[in-house]
Parts: sequence; structure tokens; C-alpha cells
Amino acid sequence: MKTIIEPFRIKVVEPIRMTTPEYRESVLREAGFNVFLINARDVLIDLLTDSGTGAMSSEQWAGIMRADESYAGAESFHRFYDRVAGLTGFEHILPTHQGRASERILFEVMVRKGMVVPNNNHFDTTRANIEHSGGEAVDLVVEEGRIATSRKPFKGNLSVERLERCFAEVGADRIPLVMITVTNNSGGGQPVSLENIRAVRAVCDKHDTPLFLDACRFAENAYMIKQREPDWSDHSVGEIARAMFDLADGATISAKKDGLVNIGGVLLFRNDELAKQARNVLILTEGFPTYGGLAGRDLEAMAQGFEEVLHEDYLHYRLRSVEYLGTRLRDGGVAIVEPPGGHAIYIDAKSFCPHIPPEQFPGQAVVCALYRHAGIRAVEIGHLMFGGSGHTPDMELVRLAIPRRVYTQSHVDYVIEAVLEVHAMRDTIRPLMITEAPPQLRHFTARLREIDD
Ligand code: F0G
Repeated sequence: MKTIIEPFRIKVVEPIRMTTPEYRESVLREAGFNVFLINARDVLIDLLTDSGTGAMSSEQWAGIMRADESYAGAESFHRFYDRVAGLTGFEHILPTHQGRASERILFEVMVRKGMVVPNNNHFDTTRANIEHSGGEAVDLVVEEGRIATSRKPFKGNLSVERLERCFAEVGADRIPLVMITVTNNSGGGQPVSLENIRAVRAVCDKHDTPLFLDACRFAENAYMIKQREPDWSDHSVGEIARAMFDLADGATISAKKDGLVNIGGVLLFRNDELAKQARNVLILTEGFPTYGGLAGRDLEAMAQGFEEVLHEDYLHYRLRSVEYLGTRLRDGGVAIVEPPGGHAIYIDAKSFCPHIPPEQFPGQAVVCALYRHAGIRAVEIGHLMFGGSGHTPDMELVRLAIPRRVYTQSHVDYVIEAVLEVHAMRDTIRPLMITEAPPQLRHFTARLREIDD
């Protein structure tokens, strides 16, 4: 059979409130053309993020009812620990409330003023937490990772050559760790190959420097390795994920992605001393090490989520539906970051709206047009998000992030139709200007208006 079905049945439904274009126009104006300021009830299809927005399974909800809420040594912690240990092989497993809490603790323990942390591409919270600890975050993704049209299979890879150069220029004593983000969210959700992780590991070994994974989307990365890296096609996704973790000294995970939960995170170490220091910070700022800022029920949901995410029929459906969205948009003439990534499709707003220069926010203009036309909420990754500090981003993108197990094929078809209709009338999309904005992270709260208004 060619048709790929959602490998689940729907037991609980949440109604979507239908709205008219006129109503959405007034909502958009009220929100200052910033979709972060729109209420979720006014959104038909919410593609703002794939983080914490997934649907949990009946087994996860059953675990929630079963949970042990004891302060110390709860049964739920042991179930969570055993599952994560089986998946990753790490001995020290610290639960946290979400990914950025793991990052904050890791960098508080390992990064000092004047230090440099290389990564393929740092996610924005990772970069901000490194800077908060006095360090500098540098992005060393391979060249093709910056070229939207390149169709290379592993555009998330970290450039070994640039990493060697970084060690030569900075000196190993100022590089406390190297990170690799799987999949590379800021670079279009592109995967990293095992061959690349191994090569980076070899450079780290040469300089006696630990390697950490930002492993939020480890299962999607592992599945793309299975599909694209010939040596691994006969291995299970679980074996591939384990091979990825085996090459690292530790990892941060936001379980809000491939943990299939709405809240939760993990911080992992092999080294006893680092784990001890991190545990002390955890107790100070998150909670006792057997719950780390979460309820027992959250640990149960994570334990089950980390098991379900490795099911290959789920991953097949997941990756295929993202790819289907990307292929249909491309076939309709919309330029996207190629090839389709794991969790999202990124539309190239510069080619969608060539009449709008970057400083007049082409990405945000497309985001507003999609909301106005079809009630779809996407997110701009371009001049509005990154241009505040005088920095000009390489690309102007609109991310359509797909929540896990939430939307069906007909929702995806609706999104395709909407994007193609907006594309057909793209000449009418108007440029924007900022009317007020905070000094930092301006995209969350800035207000804008259309220039010819
Ligand atoms: N690392 C990566 C690669 C991420 O994509 C995220 C979150 C984090 C770390 C932080 O995790 O949100 O649990 O604190 N990404 C979300 C997104 C917010 O929309 O891409 P968190």
C-alpha cells in the first residue's frame, strides 16, 4: 500500500474554533501583527512550535494516574531512570523541567568567562545560556548547511575542518566542551550523520575535550540516519540512537520534543565529578535529584514517551508527513529549505516576497498573510527574530513546525492549500515596520504595522 496512515486512533478530541478572515484581520491588528500576541483560541492550525505541543498516548495518561509523588526515591523516578539509562547508556540521569534548565545547569558547571563553545548551530536558548555564563557560542555547521537549496543528506553536520581551526585559534584550554545539536533546529531541522559525530569525537579526543549532544530530536535524527546513511540501514532506530549517545560524554534533552511530553527535560553525564556538581545546582534551583522540578506523573509520561518515540511506524509517518508538506509546497513553486527536515518545513521568505527587503520583514509579512488567509500560525526566523542587534541573518525563513500526533493528513492538506493560495497572491503582501520593541528577544513582544497602511 502506498498510503501511509496515522499509526494511532483518536480517543480524545479538542475542537478547533472556526473563524472568518474579517475576524482574523481584527485579531491581527489588535496583536500588532505579532502572532505571539494572538490567543490560541483564535488559531485554526497552530504550527508555532513542535515543542510541548504533542498529544500523549493512552499509556502515557495511564502512567500519569499510576505515578508515585513521593519527594525522594519515587517509583516513577526509577521507571524514568531505567528507561533513559536503557536508551542512552548514561549513568548519571538528572530530570529537569525543560531543555533550557538542563542547559543552564550544564553551562554553570562547565563554562567560565572567556570560554568558547562550538556547536553545529546553537539553538537560541543554548546560545543565551552560554553567554549568561560568560562564554561565547560559535556556530560551525558545514557549508551546505547554510545553503537553502542544497539537497545534501546531512546538512546538520558540524564542520570538522572549522572545528580544528577553532581549536587552533582559541586553544583547547578555553574550549570546555563541544556540542552537536541533533537535529539541527536553527539550521532547518537537518540531521547529523553518525560518521560526523564520530569524526567530531576524534577531534575532541585529540584535545581531551568532552563532547555533548543537544539531543532534543534524537529519534528523528536516528531515523534519518537509518534512511540516509548506508551502514546503518539494517539497524533499529533504538540501536542508532544508542550509537549516537555512545559517542558523547553527556547530553541535554528537552523532552518536549522526542520525549513526547508537554513538559520535561533531562541532563546526562558519564563523569562522576561533573554529575556531582550539576546535582548540587539542580537541588538548589530545580529540585531534589529524583524529581528535578517535575511531578512524578511527568516522569512517568517521559518514561513512556521515550519508549514510544522509537517505534518505527510512528517515525515513518512523522517524517513522511513533514516531507509530504515540503514536497507539495516545492511542487507548487514555493522555495523551502531543502531537503525537508525532521520537525518542520522552512519557507524561504526572500524568494516568496522578493519585493520586500529584509529590514521590512518579509518572513513576518508571510506569517501574517498565512494567519489572515487561513488562521495558520507559523513563526518568522529572520530579521525580526535576529536583526535587533544590528546582525543580518543569512536567511529569511518562515517555520511551519509540526506538533507530534496532533494534526491529521487533512490538516496538512489544508496547510498546503493555504500556503499555495497565499503564494499565488504574494504580490499583495505588504511590508512591515516596527512600532515598538524591547531591546532583547524582540520577536516575542514587538508590535508592527503595515507600511502602506
Ligand atoms: N535545544 C533545541 C535544539 C531546541 O529546539 C530547544 C527548544 C531547546 C534546546 C530548549 O528546550 O524549550 O524545552 O527549554 N526549541 C523550541 C522550538 C522552543 O520552538 O524550537 P526547551
